[in-house]
Amino acid sequence: MDKIIIFDTTLRDGEQAPGASLNQREKLEVASALVHLGVDIIEAGFPISSAGDFAAVKAVAKSIKGPVICGLARAIKKDIDAVYQAVKFSKRPRIHVFLATSKIHMQYKLKKAEDEILRLAVSSVKYARRYCSDIEFSPEDASRTEREFLFKVVEAVIAAGATTVNIPDTVGYADPVEFGSVIKAIKENVSNIDQAIISVHCHDDLGLAVASSLEAIKNGARQVECTINGIGERAGNASMEEIVMAIKTRRDIFSDLETTINTQQIYKVSRLVSKLTGFAVAPNKAIVGGNAFRHEAGIHQDGVLKERSTYEIIRPEDVGFTGIGLVLGKHSGRHALSERLKELGFKLTAGQLDKVNKRFKELADKKKNIFDGDLISIVEDETKVIKPVWRLESFEINSGTKITPTASVSLKYKNKILSAESSGDGPVDACFRAIDRATGIKGELQDYRIEAVTKGKDALGEVSLKLKAKERVVTARGSSTDIIEASIMAYINALNKIESL
Ligand code: KIV
Ligand code: ZN
Repeated sequence: MDKIIIFDTTLRDGEQAPGASLNQREKLEVASALVHLGVDIIEAGFPISSAGDFAAVKAVAKSIKGPVICGLARAIKKDIDAVYQAVKFSKRPRIHVFLATSKIHMQYKLKKAEDEILRLAVSSVKYARRYCSDIEFSPEDASRTEREFLFKVVEAVIAAGATTVNIPDTVGYADPVEFGSVIKAIKENVSNIDQAIISVHCHDDLGLAVASSLEAIKNGARQVECTINGIGERAGNASMEEIVMAIKTRRDIFSDLETTINTQQIYKVSRLVSKLTGFAVAPNKAIVGGNAFRHEAGIHQDGVLKERSTYEIIRPEDVGFTGIGLVLGKHSGRHALSERLKELGFKLTAGQLDKVNKRFKELADKKKNIFDGDLISIVEDETKVIKPVWRLESFEINSGTKITPTASVSLKYKNKILSAESSGDGPVDACFRAIDRATGIKGELQDYRIEAVTKGKDALGEVSLKLKAKERVVTARGSSTDIIEASIMAYINALNKIESL
């Protein structure tokens, strides 16, 4: 059996998605979830890009054990120095150097001729090799690079010491079959290719990233670069969950290939990334979308009841999707709750379980049926690592078709209660303005979304928002059966996050 190496770039290319920035604590949270998921390599960031990214890559390298920890560098000494200074704390550091090789990039972006590019590629790999033995080189925009030149660069960087050569479809331009043929051609035309792993890195501009990655695997690629939920620059990167599940599901095609991903963790990690980036997962997204395992049509439901495989090619539990299964109610005890949480994959401390139990009881008083989705939302709320500075004490709103909405909000701050009132464009806006007054912090709301966690009129509403205050932008969530309260909780969580940075 040949192993497909899973190189996760959620924390680097994924984080490059407009508006998806993660702070250090959030990067660490995602990185440790990736360890449980079983990824082989974590690309933790682009250290030269900012002091914050440098610190985050360093923190990941220091505390995350197991996978290789990688950082990205241009083919420039100071970039390579920065990567090494950040990843050297890992037992398994990797430096990833990239340099564009397509005519269009060389002419317009780099303004350099082929000879100069070849020289830079080789010298940067040699320079990186002085620091560590695990070096990856990416000829950026490889899919639009003249084949002969691509072979020449790949051969030269391997001779210079690159141990992985990554072939990016940087702008998602390649047709999958064409991309597979590039990989085949590299295997056939690069004399020293047996001394390196061939990797691929596909973007989704034409919705073909996963298809191209799979074609590449069929043609000899043994490392795939991908992100959770497919987030990334522009239309995103190849989605990890789709690649992994395609390999697992189509054993007839990928019979001699496997990944070491613990697929039951997929849904949980997907939710975590969505929560921390504020990027909702589309309901129809393959593998992790809310509808991925829902059968609506009568004929389908009938088929699934008779034999699941009629309409289900993946068992939901294989990706950790527990659906909306009815689990607990008002009379369920702490033990039943704790057992269900364990089944859902949560390991809580006694203190955390107490808090979750309290929220669970409060919710059960308002809502007859508590679903897994409700529980997951409560656990995510209650296991936040951030120590709250502000807490909601109470709120009151006045709204209607013929009046200007007003809100009064009381917050607990240290041992004081701070209250303020405000009017607004709607009750939520009025609440946010009242919170701004109470805290003295002017927040700029950049994004606001609300969705029902489960079905039914009494469903828990989950608000995710993006807030800018004190020159920082954070995403946060709040949930409640009352959507105004969920909005207030999300806003206060965002302020607490900002205070903790
Ligand atoms: O898309 C791309 O080409 C990249 C490289 C840095 C690998 O992200
Ligand atoms: Zn990329």
